[in-house]
Amino acid sequence: MQRVLSGVQPSGDFHLGNYIGAFRQWVADQESHDAFYCVVDLHALTEGIDPAYLRQKTFEAVRNLLAIGLDPKVSTIFVQSQVPEHPRLSWLLECTATMGELRRMTQFKAKGRSQESSRVGLFTYPVLMAADILLYKANRVPVGDDQRQHLELARELAQRFNNRYGELFVVPEAAIPAVGARVLDLQHPERKMSKSVESPLGTIGVLDDPDEIDRKVKKAVTDTDGEVRYAPDEKPGLANLLSLLAVATGRTPQDVAAGYTRYGDLKRDLAEALVDLLRPVRERAASLAAEPVVVEEVLRAGAARAHEIASVTYAQAAEAMGLLA
Ligand code: TYM
Repeated sequence: MQRVLSGVQPSGDFHLGNYIGAFRQWVADQESHDAFYCVVDLHALTEGIDPAYLRQKTFEAVRNLLAIGLDPKVSTIFVQSQVPEHPRLSWLLECTATMGELRRMTQFKAKGRSQESSRVGLFTYPVLMAADILLYKANRVPVGDDQRQHLELARELAQRFNNRYGELFVVPEAAIPAVGARVLDLQHPERKMSKSVESPLGTIGVLDDPDEIDRKVKKAVTDTDGEVRYAPDEKPGLANLLSLLAVATGRTPQDVAAGYTRYGDLKRDLAEALVDLLRPVRERAASLAAEPVVVEEVLRAGAARAHEIASVTYAQAAEAMGLLA
């Protein structure tokens, strides 16, 4: 059975971008793959997050992964820092990666702006991400479009290691959805929807209630030409809405566009479709909130299973590089 691995940062609440770009695939893949999904708390540290907030969000993130439909009986769900091989392999890989490669990472350029004062962890972030993937010899990594470049680096580091120290790592494939790989902020369609942005109206949370979803969709920024057609470059706000409705109803954005002449009708149907799409998530989250023990048990079992695999790969990598067994 092929292995799938992916991760999410616990630095805020999960939003529709995470759900459409990544989680949908995670849920589908757990049926057909040996699936590993991790909450990457070490990555969240790169943003200088408050300790109490991080602890709370990490726990909530695990609960919300169950709420989106991951089944702990078939998927291994774990917290990155509870498997110590992640930062250990990251160090080994850092000793193969180059400054030039990491400097070219657009996410670092955007977040760190390459300033003297930006955190070293933000710079080496993609190497830790490569370690997350390579430790499990994952074949497939379902992610949104913003992780494409990081996946390229993971592939490059795997190949480099294999060439230099002997065949060990699987070179992973990114699995990026054809539609919905980059969900845009509803208020600022020039940027992606994100946890960190100060745009509460532009971001739909996976746990938003129907009224909030309705309000945010109705207020979504479009354009003034009033014609419904799918043109992502010219009409990014509208194209975003069409893509979301396409994903929620299993059609193409062009098909969806053909069915409308007015923005208002499209928004009304989209709000309804998103409420339906997220209803089961909200319901499962509510029942899980009453059972913290379930999450604790998932964490315990997940860390044990992940560690079983990660410890073997780490030992192989360390030995290959000349560290004493
Ligand atoms: P993170 O936490 O930012 O996002 C989690 C997943 O959601 C996707 N995503 C989006 N997809 C479409 N539209 C959006 N607006 C949007 N926003 C987020 C992301 O592409 C991602 O798939 N570096 C990663 C976490 C990570 C990881 C890994 C992923 C760490 N180690 C190993 C895969 C494998 C990140 O920050 O994702």
